[in-house]
Amino acid sequence: MSFKKRIIVTGGAGFIGSHVVRRLVLKYPEYLIINVDKLTYAGNLENLRDIDSANNYRFEKSDICDQDAITTIFEKYDVNGVIHLAAESHVDRSITEPLEFIQTNIVGTANLLNCALTFWKKDFKGTRFYHVSTDEVYGSLGDEGFFLESTPYDPKSPYSASKASSDHLVRAFGHTYELPTVISNCSNNYGPNQFPEKLIPLFISNIVEKKALPVYGKGENVRDWLYVEDHAEAIDLIYHKGKDQETYNIGGENEWSNINLIKLLCADMDEKLNRSNGESENLISYVKDRAGHDFRYAIDCSKIKNDLGWSPKTTFKAGLRKTIDWYLTNDIWIQNIKTGSYQEYYKAQYEKR
Ligand code: NAD
Ligand code: TYD
Repeated sequence: MSFKKRIIVTGGAGFIGSHVVRRLVLKYPEYLIINVDKLTYAGNLENLRDIDSANNYRFEKSDICDQDAITTIFEKYDVNGVIHLAAESHVDRSITEPLEFIQTNIVGTANLLNCALTFWKKDFKGTRFYHVSTDEVYGSLGDEGFFLESTPYDPKSPYSASKASSDHLVRAFGHTYELPTVISNCSNNYGPNQFPEKLIPLFISNIVEKKALPVYGKGENVRDWLYVEDHAEAIDLIYHKGKDQETYNIGGENEWSNINLIKLLCADMDEKLNRSNGESENLISYVKDRAGHDFRYAIDCSKIKNDLGWSPKTTFKAGLRKTIDWYLTNDIWIQNIKTGSYQEYYKAQYEKR
């Protein structure tokens, strides 16, 4: 069967990537979706168990920094689109191991851009390179104001600096070579499949196990939370309808201080686990603040609303409940991460093929 579009999704075994892959595979049977993922600690093919034998899905275990491997994938599938999500994504890890972030997020993005440019040569008709990025590139806000697409970049962590750098490379390739690129910068995501190092899944897991909940500093930092499937919907829309060389901000219009979010999560978890009111909140433990901790992120997403008609659909109350339900129902998913057995899925499913 010949496929109308052949799209690489990098980082498809990760949190957001797995939602994007599933959405595209199910919604567009006329597309071939090629998941390119190195399977670092954050890559988990169990996230895609339900669709991994679909006719229009392929998996390639590759490092985005590997020029030969990526070139071979472009040739093998006659790729005409890239949705690039592969990255080192955790701020705390970027503070202890910054060089991994430089390698994957900057060098890897440069390599992907160069491979796309080389393969597509000057005939860019029908091609697109979409970079999925973060609002953290804009830096940190005080109590007031919002990030706009025109806000100057001011990244403050090794993670956000590496993502800012990769955004600049994508723009430079668009400007210099007229490669059809598009970028989106999104706020904090939450939902199923998120690795339990990030705030919400870590705290759900700790509450279940009655372990301490480490709140950095006073818990006053503010994040704008978006349900992951709303992000996947926006990515689908931008890939198809976004303008070349444009940037779109995506946000949940849903700001929470960490401590208020944690208290809400604790109350919901007490109810779900039939624990007495306040039991989970007693697990809160204030710890040393994150180095250089950005105070507040908040997105003005009027451009994507006005130009493309997208808006966040899932209320925080509903999204948080769905997330909690998913983690409680899929306890085995977390257990497999804790034992490390999630990394054997590739061997069992793919090495024999
Ligand atoms: P994640 O850490 O859950 O997943 C990252 C995936 O990339 C993993 O499957 C990993 O194996 C893969 N990967 C890492 N290095 C690779 C390499 N060198 N080659 C190939 N694959 C590699 O990340 P996520 O939270 O799903 O984030 C996905 C993207 O969205 C990232 O680019 C991130 O910057 C961006 N983003 C995330 C959020 C958020 O809240 N999580 C918000 C805005 C933007
Ligand atoms: P995180 O999920 O790591 O996302 P990001 O740093 O990209 O925003 O953290 C969300 C917020 O929660 C951030 O302000 C840091 C804070 N936090 C804690 O207080 N304790 C924790 O254990 C973690 C992981 C995060």
